[in-house]
Amino acid sequence: MKLMIINGPNLNLLGTREPDTYGKESFEEYFSKLQFKFREVELSFFQSNIEGELIDQLQAAAKDFDGIILNAAAYTHTSVGIGDAVKAIGIPVVEVHISNTFSREEFRHKSFISPNAKGVIIGFGLQSYDLGISSFLKK
Ligand code: DQA
Repeated sequence: MKLMIINGPNLNLLGTREPDTYGKESFEEYFSKLQFKFREVELSFFQSNIEGELIDQLQAAAKDFDGIILNAAAYTHTSVGIGDAVKAIGIPVVEVHISNTFSREEFRHKSFISPNAKGVIIGFGLQSYDLGISSFLKK
């Protein structure tokens, strides 16, 4: 099983960005734990602050991976292009969010990803990614 985690804008700042909302751990630290926990999964990770790079990565990953765990961050709420890419690529994409976007500002309640996602995991802190990966494993 080959899975790719794709993170959108500002998630490179995890650990220092609004720690009350997003926690104190960097994604690199957390990603090492995920690799250890899911040793049977070939996990890759990509982050970009640039919308087009996220779309390019979704398209590229579709050729080589069994599934994608996508946190498009702020682009979740604005990007028709990323939503269209998720629809276009034909491999399962699980949408994840660290914070509970529904308990936050109203503009965070809209997602262009959800209609075409396999499923959506919201509000469990970094554990949302664990749950996203687990959703691909038959256990
Ligand atoms: C986020 C929620 C988004 O609304 C926000 O713009 C982010 C992170 C989350 O993981 O909680 O950057 O996707």
